[in-house]
Amino acid sequence: MWKHHKKLEKNSLLLVIGILVVVSIGGLVEIAPLFYLESTIEKVKGVRPYTPLELAGRDVYIREGCYTCHSQMVRPLRDEVERYGHYSLAAESMYDHPFQWGSKRTGPDLARVGGKYSDGWHRDHMIDPRSVVPESVMPPYAFLADKDLDARDIKAKLVAQTKVGVPYTQEMIDSAAQDLATQADPFAPASAFKARYGDKAAQRDFDGDPTRLTEMDALIAYLQMLGTLVDFSTYKASAPENIR
Ligand code: HEC
Repeated sequence: MWKHHKKLEKNSLLLVIGILVVVSIGGLVEIAPLFYLESTIEKVKGVRPYTPLELAGRDVYIREGCYTCHSQMVRPLRDEVERYGHYSLAAESMYDHPFQWGSKRTGPDLARVGGKYSDGWHRDHMIDPRSVVPESVMPPYAFLADKDLDARDIKAKLVAQTKVGVPYTQEMIDSAAQDLATQADPFAPASAFKARYGDKAAQRDFDGDPTRLTEMDALIAYLQMLGTLVDFSTYKASAPENIR
């Protein structure tokens, strides 16, 4: 055996082939079992796909590059859990395409920012971060409050999400434009919208200007639901009643 090994070590082409064989065996052993699992993510009660307005807000978040300064994953480390709340569950980002975990924290993690501040705080903070956090280095995004939300392609956006596995129903897709308008209008009848996205889905004017539907509305709707879907007062890891 050692005699042969000498040959292998002296011939670089043979060595490369040998390495490829060994690495692909290792790869197969790691990857093959994943094809036989139904899911690598444990489903958790409360997690639902984004509403059309939240999805539009999420697109604003991605377009503006908020992820270059903000992560969206609370790691299971004591300092993070004490600062941000319960560590993130895999299921909480199962409908995130692309995911927003991030790798840079110039600003704080946003995975649990939902409900931490009022809508008004978010609006003021987006318009001029220094007005609420004097030492902030975050850039202002005041123009979002002046920009009407272009939601003509919202139906196509939902369809695109279904292609990567988000379980939007045909009914959700057909009523996407209507659901988007309903969520930002506190006076619109909402029973059908809530039947589709759950009673906890917020319905109000998010940006403080009820006369217009702006990108600020969508972004705040998105920020205010981040990390709020799972009820951690009752959640226990691996308790069967929490699994859908
Ligand atoms: C250049 C880096 C940078 C970018 C880009 C950035 N932020 Fe921030 N953000 C910060 C910093 C720093 C803070 C902490 C100070 C503050 O609250 O303003 C912060 C704070 C926040 C907070 C408050 C978080 C908390 O828990 O107190 C929110 C919400 C937020 N940013 C949202 C956004 C959104 C939405 C975008 C994109 C439209 C964005 N940020 C883009 C740096 C950034």
